[in-house]
Amino acid sequence: MKAKANEEKTETTKRVLVTDYISEEGIKKLREFAEVDIELELSKADLKERIAGYDALIVRSGTKVTKEIIEAGVRLKVIGRAGVGVDNIDVETATEKGIMVVNSPEANTISAAEHAIAMLLCLSRKIPAANASLKSGKWERKKHTGVEVNGKVFGIIGLGRVGSEVAERAAGLGMRVVAYDPFISQERARELGIALLRFTEVLSTADFISLHTPLTKDTHHLIGKKEFELMKDDVRVINCARGGILDEDALGDAIKSGKVAGAALDVFEHEPPGESELVQMEEVIVTPHLGASTEEAQRVAAVAIADEVMAALKNKPVRNAVNMIYVAEELMDAINPYLVLAEKLGRLSAQRIPKSSRLEQFDVSYEGEIGMARAGAGKDTRLITVAMLKSFLSWFIDGVNYVNAGTIAKKSGIKVTESKTGDVENFSSLISITTTTRIEEAGKKRTVAGTLFGKDDPRIVNIDGFRVDASPSGYMLICSFLDKPRVIGPVCMILGDRGINIAGMQVGREKTGGEAVMVLNVDSSVSEAIIKEIKEVKNIFDVKLVKL
Ligand code: NAD
Ligand code: MLT
Repeated sequence: MKAKANEEKTETTKRVLVTDYISEEGIKKLREFAEVDIELELSKADLKERIAGYDALIVRSGTKVTKEIIEAGVRLKVIGRAGVGVDNIDVETATEKGIMVVNSPEANTISAAEHAIAMLLCLSRKIPAANASLKSGKWERKKHTGVEVNGKVFGIIGLGRVGSEVAERAAGLGMRVVAYDPFISQERARELGIALLRFTEVLSTADFISLHTPLTKDTHHLIGKKEFELMKDDVRVINCARGGILDEDALGDAIKSGKVAGAALDVFEHEPPGESELVQMEEVIVTPHLGASTEEAQRVAAVAIADEVMAALKNKPVRNAVNMIYVAEELMDAINPYLVLAEKLGRLSAQRIPKSSRLEQFDVSYEGEIGMARAGAGKDTRLITVAMLKSFLSWFIDGVNYVNAGTIAKKSGIKVTESKTGDVENFSSLISITTTTRIEEAGKKRTVAGTLFGKDDPRIVNIDGFRVDASPSGYMLICSFLDKPRVIGPVCMILGDRGINIAGMQVGREKTGGEAVMVLNVDSSVSEAIIKEIKEVKNIFDVKLVKL
């Protein structure tokens, strides 16, 4: 077993840098596959210098993975976050660079929820202050009189993984739970037995408010001066999600004014918070970002992130990629032949665009059986679309992959659309790409469509509306022409005379004497000079050599 692990390591030696503490179980797993360096005290400058030598970086919330660090990671393929929040990682830059960001979102849900409940009870019963007072030799019973939570309204902002677990536990304490989450359906809230209210309703009705949203541009200072003013007098606020969701200055003012009776904070806008008036306030209880700090959560998070990072480095499906579509390994067999076809269609489309043109629109259509596929199901079309876009863009741009294809298209001003229908003629499934160009030939559309014969034999079956049946491999010469005598013969003669063997030929035409397309599979490349000669044949409109 050991020999095998070592064998695997030398074959694919990958280098992983770990810059925040993760549990030994995860490190052990990584070491079976990669060289692992653990550097817990790196300065920003040192990390920037060191990162160039690694394929993967693993962090928790301590390391700030900024644009600068990511750009210095010239070899980086994956950034692993042992935990859920990726607000310390510049995901946008990672995506642009084609670097996968993976996390372990479920590993510490229960620990974080239990911590929020622990904070709730500490806050309501003033346990930390009472503990400190007794230890300093005092016996102050009246001063530490608390309030019951039973029967009180518990307001949750953000009813995701942690929020739902907190809700269940708060209900178990006899609290009436209300919540605000714009992305959760009433149905889901009903299942949880929670009243889903408007944001301002939660603020104005709750006796305790607990925050459980991610930190994003939208949730930064979600709770500020205005929000505190809407709250009930003597409200108590808990933040075990992320510092920055709550405006700390506004909280301090609300406590001083007597509006807020107390607050429990596990997270801070700057960690550690250093000299902070808020942290020192008697009404405020604090822990140093301990939500996930249990033996269980640390073990699960470390092992989960090791698995994710290893899968990413081995090009296997990754369950928790923040910036990539996930397809389960057991579904990959069904989707793989479509990915092959998609790559061919993308490459073919790209080579049909003249160098002087720019792409405006990339429309993908799925017809027939594939057009009925649902996201996450057997033949999830989202990944197929990304495969087409990736192979299309790769023809023009270096470094395009499954992670950054969508972002690069967007940045290049290319509009990508996907349409689906269950209807199709002659095929069980048909996939097509229609490109629309701008500049020079503004509005010009080109379509290629393909299908699978049998389970895994990809075919190009339509070019610009002309029915063909070509194998998408090797060199293909695509000629558009007017369907008249003495066109096909001369083209074949030119190729034959120049020593180019024709392996297959397909002609598709609209009607006798109308426009037509000829697809020739040839065994070798065709020079510009020969293409020029073919273009001179009477009634030939255009000739394009593509390599698939
Ligand atoms: P999640 O993604 O499962 O849930 C977040 C929920 O917030 C989602 O349901 C989302 O719809 C909702 N949301 C987003 N924007 C919102 C808004 N403007 N208003 C209301 N709701 C909004 O995440 P999770 O795993 O439940 O984690 C929740 C938070 O807890 C995150 O910030 C995470 O980083 C943090 N966390 C902290 C610790 C810790 O150690 N203190 C541990 C685990 C998680
Ligand atoms: C998380 O986002 O998972 C938590 O904040 C815990 C951690 O930082 O490890």
